[in-house]
Amino acid sequence: MSIKCAVQLGLPEAVGAHAGPISLPDLVSSLGLPPSKAPYLHRLLRLVAHSGFLSLHTKLNDVERYSLTPAGRFLLSDNPYNAGSLLLAVLDPVLTEPFHHMSAWFRSEKDDDDVNTTTFSSTHGGKMAWEYMATDAVFSDLFNDAMARDSCMIAELVVKEGRSAFEGVGSLVDVAGGTGNMAKAVAKAFPGMSCTVLDLPHVVSGLEDGGNNVKYVAGDMFESIPAADAVLLKVISCFLFYLIFYNLNIIFNYICNCKLIALV
Ligand SMILES: C[S@@+](CC[C@H](N)C(=O)[O-])C[C@H]1O[C@@H](n2cnc3c(N)ncnc32)[C@H](O)[C@@H]1O
Repeated sequence: MSIKCAVQLGLPEAVGAHAGPISLPDLVSSLGLPPSKAPYLHRLLRLVAHSGFLSLHTKLNDVERYSLTPAGRFLLSDNPYNAGSLLLAVLDPVLTEPFHHMSAWFRSEKDDDDVNTTTFSSTHGGKMAWEYMATDAVFSDLFNDAMARDSCMIAELVVKEGRSAFEGVGSLVDVAGGTGNMAKAVAKAFPGMSCTVLDLPHVVSGLEDGGNNVKYVAGDMFESIPAADAVLLKVISCFLFYLIFYNLNIIFNYICNCKLIALV
């Protein structure tokens, strides 16, 4: 929560924009905070430094000054590998609120209409996560943006270090591929490959096909998956979970007949 507060205040940008390590009074003024909040900002800074996102410098006249660590630079909003949006998404009340109801969930009986299937659904009117997201555009955008930024970094590494996994693949479908950053990176690295991004309608509707070799398909991965030489799964543990525990034969047979590239 301290890091979330720091990101929301714009603290990484204020520290990063300063020429050299920044003092507490300078930070209070560049963040536009009331001077009375300085002692509290000091505590926040200590916590953020303790978590490894800031370095503490005390050498100059014994005044505490702060600079961003390499991890702290990942919180800068203009960093293409920004992790701040993922942090804001996972600490959003939509995802944290269910944790406050875990004991009530344990005590409740599973009801017929599945309202109490998970703590998420019992908190959000019986809706499971993806169903809920289709009804909350603000949170959905936050979550999709977080995943897209996560994909930027992973994609760069995967197409460089894991190049051999994609060689010889003529067509690929990124199952539950979000807004398509991963597929776009693969398509760019392998211009001869035709890439399809399959995701739920509220995620991909309105997205333009990303160049000649990326197209979007709106659908449910548990119902059908477009044909391709290879299936890419990134951060789709629920899909693997369903395959293993619910034995979805149709999908399982499909996966067995093509190459599976899983990034969990
Ligand atoms: C954790 S995100 C991962 C997104 C993307 N693979 C990535 O790594 O950036 C899970 C994705 O699964 C999608 N999803 C959930 N259930 C789905 C379903 N039944 N069919 C298709 N996509 C689904 C969600 O909309 C979301 O984009």
